[in-house]
Amino acid sequence: MNKAALVTGGARRIGREIALSLAEGGWDVVLHYNSSRDDAEGTAEEVRGRGVSCQLVGCDLADSRRMLELLPAAVGLAPALELLVNNASVFERSPIAETEVGLFDSHMAVNLSAPFFLLRDFARLCGRGQVLNLLDTRIVRDESAYAAYTLTRKALAGLTRMAAREFAPGIRVNAVAPGLILPPEGGNREQFERMAARIPLERHGHPRQVAQAAMYLVNSDFVTGQVIHVDGGEHLL
Ligand SMILES: NC(=O)c1ccc[n+]([C@@H]2O[C@H](COP(=O)([O-])OP(=O)(O)OC[C@H]3O[C@@H](n4cnc5c(N)ncnc54)[C@H](OP(=O)(O)O)[C@@H]3O)[C@@H](O)[C@H]2O)c1
Repeated sequence: MNKAALVTGGARRIGREIALSLAEGGWDVVLHYNSSRDDAEGTAEEVRGRGVSCQLVGCDLADSRRMLELLPAAVGLAPALELLVNNASVFERSPIAETEVGLFDSHMAVNLSAPFFLLRDFARLCGRGQVLNLLDTRIVRDESAYAAYTLTRKALAGLTRMAAREFAPGIRVNAVAPGLILPPEGGNREQFERMAARIPLERHGHPRQVAQAAMYLVNSDFVTGQVIHVDGGEHLL
């Protein structure tokens, strides 16, 4: 039986690329999605095309009752679950002065509560393996344009280190902090290219490069509590 991984928000973009890289590494995949069912089915076919199994599980992570059912459901589908990838997130521009309670709460629910309780339940139900959290290179700065989002990524960085200590030696917990990889859906491509030209490597990245860092961490069994910035040097600014 192959080892299995649960990837949240795995239907599209960076999550899809991580799911495909895991499949190439021989991992069976439980692919979580919320609204992108068609994309999830397409990604699942691509995963299966790499010779491993892929099962789909839909769940709105903002619904705490349903969120708490996700890890038990994944273990039911894949008893050999050894990896949790916390990738799903919401990302909305909102400086502190413009932030409404609903926007704040939805970021906390999807980007922080869900990874926290999925990690807790992974530890309880699986007992050994590893967790990989997707952060953001913004964690090194205190810009407030995406205040609620950025706070969730900073907190998830703290959780990565805390959990790496609490759950060692049985569970490794690491993170990847991407920079300018993909503009948000419907985002301004020209503005994205202009921002990319201003970072040290003067270009944006590709989801494949985030997946490469993820696979390094997945395969490095003497690494825990680590954050790799895949950001063209943006964290240096
Ligand atoms: N893109 C970048 O350049 C970049 C830069 C820095 C950090 N990151 C981090 O890297 C990760 C992936 O980035 P991305 O741009 O690929 O992410 P994304 O496309 O913005 O979101 C990934 C997935 O999260 C899921 N999601 C959103 N709300 C949800 C909810 N209420 N319940 C369940 N799932 C929900 C969506 O699934 P459905 O589509 O199925 O609804 C979505 O496809 C994120 O954690 C992000 O913070 C990305």
